[in-house]
Amino acid sequence: MTSTWTEPANTPVALLLLGQGTDPASERGVDCPGELPAPSDPDLVARAEAAKAALGGRVFVLGHHYQRDEVIRFADVTGDSFKLAQQAAARPEAEFIVFCGVHFMAESADILTKPEQRVILPDLAAGCSMADMAVLGQVETAWEHFQDLGIAGDIVPVTYMNSSADIKGFVGRNEGVVCTSSNAKRALTWSFEQGSKVFFLPDQHLGRNTAVLEMGFDLDDCVLYDPHKPQGGLTDEQLRNARMILWRGHCSVHGRFTIDSVREVRERVPGVNVLVHPECRHDVVRAADHVGSTEYIIKALDAAEPGSAWAVGTELNLVRRLALAHPDKRIMFLDRTVCYCSTMNRIDLPHLVWALEELVAGRVPNVITVDEKTAHEARVALDQMLALP
Ligand code: 13P
Ligand code: SF4
Repeated sequence: MTSTWTEPANTPVALLLLGQGTDPASERGVDCPGELPAPSDPDLVARAEAAKAALGGRVFVLGHHYQRDEVIRFADVTGDSFKLAQQAAARPEAEFIVFCGVHFMAESADILTKPEQRVILPDLAAGCSMADMAVLGQVETAWEHFQDLGIAGDIVPVTYMNSSADIKGFVGRNEGVVCTSSNAKRALTWSFEQGSKVFFLPDQHLGRNTAVLEMGFDLDDCVLYDPHKPQGGLTDEQLRNARMILWRGHCSVHGRFTIDSVREVRERVPGVNVLVHPECRHDVVRAADHVGSTEYIIKALDAAEPGSAWAVGTELNLVRRLALAHPDKRIMFLDRTVCYCSTMNRIDLPHLVWALEELVAGRVPNVITVDEKTAHEARVALDQMLALP
């Protein structure tokens, strides 16, 4: 059969084709200099295998669990953001770390690896909408407000791994800690030993769910700081009384699961276990049977009884892979509609092939570099996380 597929030409509209062209107004830009292979090229798998074999131990490929199947098969290590942060530092002999994930993860890898190692993000437009919800200038304005109120000395800033390097730097220079969805409770426990309040960035849901459901706080102990409102939309009294000051940020993927999806699946599948990621909204997590990071979700399904039914509230690439890996269990997606992370999905096989072949040709594309001062301050907060009891 002859193919009728024609590669679409790049257009000047807002929706840029993967890796082609630039949008100066976007936070990262999407430059992809050189020839990106066509997605329809039947030799892409063989090209990726050949390039990886040619590079041997010089390259180490990390893949987040939300990556596409076509990419994850080339990862030397797969993991959630905590495991990948640990693994980034595990191959000091690898010249190149190709990060199949999103921008903030590649930044953390650059911070945690040796100066001579280079971290490559196959598509520079693979950002994270949640990370973009906390911009350094906004966070500093909030902190100055806390200083004016005289409460900054009581506050420990905590940032979720899903934040830019300069937010991690802010947290490091203010004696706070980074956390991931695997260790948020440990990070908050440590923080409340250092101060009486926590300023939690940028995911309100992970902060609220951990404080209320895992640490026994009341919902009233939490306030929501909206960077788009004067004084965060909060009175001085609310800020003085709060234990958890939550930044108004969220994940656009996990934010799509609703309490109605939980009710609907329970009606449709009697006895179903609802298993969700803590980035989901509070009412969804409260209504679920189990909550945990992507690594936790994988382990829970590995350990599940054959024949048991599971509705999983996290990114669809992972849920699909888990369903295929466990044909003896009934694993379904919690929502009725498709829910991929569009930025994670930007790393596709053509971009991976392009990045690997560039390396083989002696060119180093899409290097993610964090400036030395920011890296130093962010490393303090990341090291604090890695040292959590
Ligand atoms: P974890 O990898 O920590 O589970 O976080 C999920 C996520 O949204 C990554 O972007
Ligand atoms: Fe960001 Fe959510 Fe995508 Fe993770 S899943 S990269 S938090 S938008």
